[in-house]
Amino acid sequence: MESMELFNQRADEYDTWFEDNPLILEAEIEAVRQVTPSFSRALEVGVGTGRFAQALGVKLGLEPSRAMAAYARDRGIEVVEGYAEALPFDDGAFDAVFMITVDCYLEELAPALHECRRVLSEKGNLVMGHVDIDAPLGAVYEEARDEDPFYRDAYFRGTNEVLDQLDRAGFAVTKIRQTVYTFQNVVQEVREGHGDGVFVALCAVKR
Ligand SMILES: C[S@@+](CC[C@H](N)C(=O)[O-])C[C@H]1O[C@@H](n2cnc3c(N)ncnc32)[C@H](O)[C@@H]1O
Repeated sequence: MESMELFNQRADEYDTWFEDNPLILEAEIEAVRQVTPSFSRALEVGVGTGRFAQALGVKLGLEPSRAMAAYARDRGIEVVEGYAEALPFDDGAFDAVFMITVDCYLEELAPALHECRRVLSEKGNLVMGHVDIDAPLGAVYEEARDEDPFYRDAYFRGTNEVLDQLDRAGFAVTKIRQTVYTFQNVVQEVREGHGDGVFVALCAVKR
């Protein structure tokens, strides 16, 4: 199933998962917060239901799924319809671009990174959150592929691959944090680096 259809049909399920796992959401938001520099003009690409944007104070999102966008709008986010590979914004329009757990729905990451870089100002920052398939819990995502519609067609990547692609796209990574070491809804530490936690947040600046 094309991911837009998937998220149109399952927006309620997606959003409810966070409702049921508030401590995992909190840990992920905290990891992203720790790598986020101050910003004045920010965009979240693939804003989804807007939970991260709302928590981080990002007022503008881009989203291809109307059902996901409806949730984000209810959370007070302005949402523009569109795709990461063709951002409908001017060059240098933002000083921060966020892209959180979107990369695993992109068969190729390079076109989206190129677009993020284009819309960032000279010293702008890209903040990414992603599922690190090379972390120990990555095996759980792989095992769940057959029965979980969110994972079936996902393009999971390890953090080393993401770092390599960022380098090729002209970004220098400045900060990395990791969290989520169990899928139980318990308090989870945010630590520097990657390799242990299945959720990785990083900040990269335009070189
Ligand atoms: C796992 S959700 C993440 C949503 C939100 N960032 C969050 O962390 O809760 C992935 C989102 O990426 C969006 N998406 C999928 N393909 C996309 C593309 N090519 N460009 C932009 N967004 C895309 C989906 O519609 C979905 O809302």
